[in-house]
Amino acid sequence: MSATPQEVVLKINGLMVSYGGIEAVKGIDFEIRQGELVTLIGANGAGKTTTLKAITGLLPWAGGDISYMGASIKGRQPFKLLHDGLAMVPEGRGVFSRMTIIENLQMGAYVRTDDAGISADIEKMFGIFPRLKERANQLAGTMSGGEQQMLAMARALMGQPKLLLLDEPSMGLSPIMVDKIFEVVRDISAQGVTILLVEQNARLALQAAHRGYVMESGLVTMSGPAREMLDDPKVRAAYLGE
Ligand SMILES: Nc1ncnc2c1ncn2[C@@H]1O[C@H](COP(=O)(O)OP(=O)(O)OP(=O)(O)O)[C@@H](O)[C@H]1O
Ligand SMILES: [Mg+2]
Repeated sequence: MSATPQEVVLKINGLMVSYGGIEAVKGIDFEIRQGELVTLIGANGAGKTTTLKAITGLLPWAGGDISYMGASIKGRQPFKLLHDGLAMVPEGRGVFSRMTIIENLQMGAYVRTDDAGISADIEKMFGIFPRLKERANQLAGTMSGGEQQMLAMARALMGQPKLLLLDEPSMGLSPIMVDKIFEVVRDISAQGVTILLVEQNARLALQAAHRGYVMESGLVTMSGPAREMLDDPKVRAAYLGE
């Protein structure tokens, strides 16, 4: 990466999120800079999805602050955040199953008005995901899990996000599909999209990312350049099965 200081896209300070009286996120700090691919790894129940939902305005915070593009987003509604370029592909994908692939992609662009640009971007998505092109008029609900993941990512990209949040994109996919999804994540990142990648597949995530954070029981317990984390004995023992 270049040595010039990069703009901070997302900054999280002391974030706390509770469900009823139960603290799921207990005061975490992290930041993501322009163009970075940052991964958040951790065991089941660590608080990763909760953190993403707080960032996208789907859950209120019990404490701390999140700023996006230099301004606090406390209380900003999810649709407004999407409009401001903050897109999430949720766990379980959430494609519109009764719509075709083309219709799903058009929905992803609903915050845009540049019809020519939208058409060009649909073609671009078909270039990245040829499988979607072959099935353009198929109902999304009838596609395989991997195809739905591709569609969910393509739909999010249609909104031209400044920050893309991916929650476990490889979950439940075959090894070949997992490789394909990671290849696309790397490509999207190489094209300059800033990405926060939540993953259980810590090895692939750290191999793809610039930097990583580990969450355990609602706290960030480790962070650093992804290459260094891959070599860290604690990370290797706990998350890489070594
Ligand atoms: N709607 C909810 N109501 C109550 N508790 C919840 C709710 N959603 C999550 N939790 C709890 O909050 C904690 C963090 O959950 P979260 O979904 O953020 O974990 P995660 O790191 O994404 O795990 P996974 O890897 O399994 O997806 C867990 O203990 C979970 O049981
Ligand atoms: Mg989760």
